[in-house]
Amino acid sequence: MTALSGKRILLVIGGGIAAYKSLDLIRRLRERGASVRCILTAGAQAFITPLAASALTGQRSHTDLFDREDEADIGHIKLARDADLVIVAPATANLMAKMAGGHADDLASTVLLATILPILIAPAMNVRMWQHPATQRNLTILRQDGVHVVGPNDGAMAEAEFGPGRMAEPLEIAAAAERLLAPSGPLAGRHVIVTSGPTHEPIDPVRYIANRSSGKQGHAIAKAAADAGARVTLIAGPVTLPDPAGVTTVHVESAREMLDAVEKALPADIGIFAAAVADWRVANAGEQKIKKKDGALPNLSLAENPDILATIAHRSEDRPPLMVGFAAETEHVIEHARQKLAKKGCDLIVANDVSAAGGVMGGDSNTVHLVSASGVETWPTLSKADVAKKLVERLGAMAKGGQP
Ligand code: CTP
Repeated sequence: MTALSGKRILLVIGGGIAAYKSLDLIRRLRERGASVRCILTAGAQAFITPLAASALTGQRSHTDLFDREDEADIGHIKLARDADLVIVAPATANLMAKMAGGHADDLASTVLLATILPILIAPAMNVRMWQHPATQRNLTILRQDGVHVVGPNDGAMAEAEFGPGRMAEPLEIAAAAERLLAPSGPLAGRHVIVTSGPTHEPIDPVRYIANRSSGKQGHAIAKAAADAGARVTLIAGPVTLPDPAGVTTVHVESAREMLDAVEKALPADIGIFAAAVADWRVANAGEQKIKKKDGALPNLSLAENPDILATIAHRSEDRPPLMVGFAAETEHVIEHARQKLAKKGCDLIVANDVSAAGGVMGGDSNTVHLVSASGVETWPTLSKADVAKKLVERLGAMAKGGQP
């Protein structure tokens, strides 16, 4: 595994003779497990062809802002989002100037203005162009904007001149990309499994039993754990939320599917079970849609679902060392949470009051109590995103051997 394994790179190729090295860069990035998609500027196409780039990436290359097929297929805004890192190589003086000035007059510059992803540029140009105050000014602006820079290197240039301006070698650019994407943060190197959302328990192919969980808290935790450097597997019940960026999301419907997905995702360092799992399923669910029959009510019999948290917490061989459960309560919150801590066999319970009046289910804020063997800690009302961040910080400290 490298820091580039499974990462998606958008490679913007500018118009310079170094564009030929970008073809090698594609191979270096792919060797390290990344997938690469290319945008070629008009200038780049004077040196290399979109076909050559596509042959090496295995994906279609993009060239035109107003290409009807392209816009219908992926669209420039999606191009600017659907990756983990943007690399601009070669970054010509002109491309750097456009980026620094916020121009958007072709596909490459528009995507670079529209993106919120980290950007790494590998400048390449004639030594005098590189040393020109305008280029140096642009470089300063780009650095201030948070753009990362690799190279240029000193050396012989295509025009038989010597000095800085040669594009960094593909291996150097790949290494810089690896450094940028290497996990860092309090949960770096840890695998975290998060369950989130409700489960749907079928009554027949069109009806199901569900609950009011939106998945907002669980999804926020998955994102916060990924932001803290963890490799995150999110097992999500049916929710309307988008999959969080940087997280491997597995979609499930029922409690039994959720348990199965969690077992497949093991081993993990931390398990956070935020899903509102349905306690019961319909034992005699209809294979076909159950029809109304002259006022006779269907006879549904219920069976208990597996308790995912308790099942995993009581596994002997691969229990994650740190297990966190949630307690959704409408009364006696702390008392019930204490009972759940013992019964489920987890290390920490995050308890919250889900009475309708509090608006927690489906809402954007939460008031939680952390219940563990060392006592109870009540946090002020926070946004679900802030609860997630604070919880992840706490788990980072606990994973290093700290108190709950
Ligand atoms: N949980 C689970 N599998 C279940 C039920 C619950 O993994 N079948 C987990 C939840 O994800 C949560 C914790 O157990 O982390 C407590 O869930 P909660 O719904 O509050 O409690 P229940 O165990 O369902 O008990 P009760 O409904 O009696 O409050």
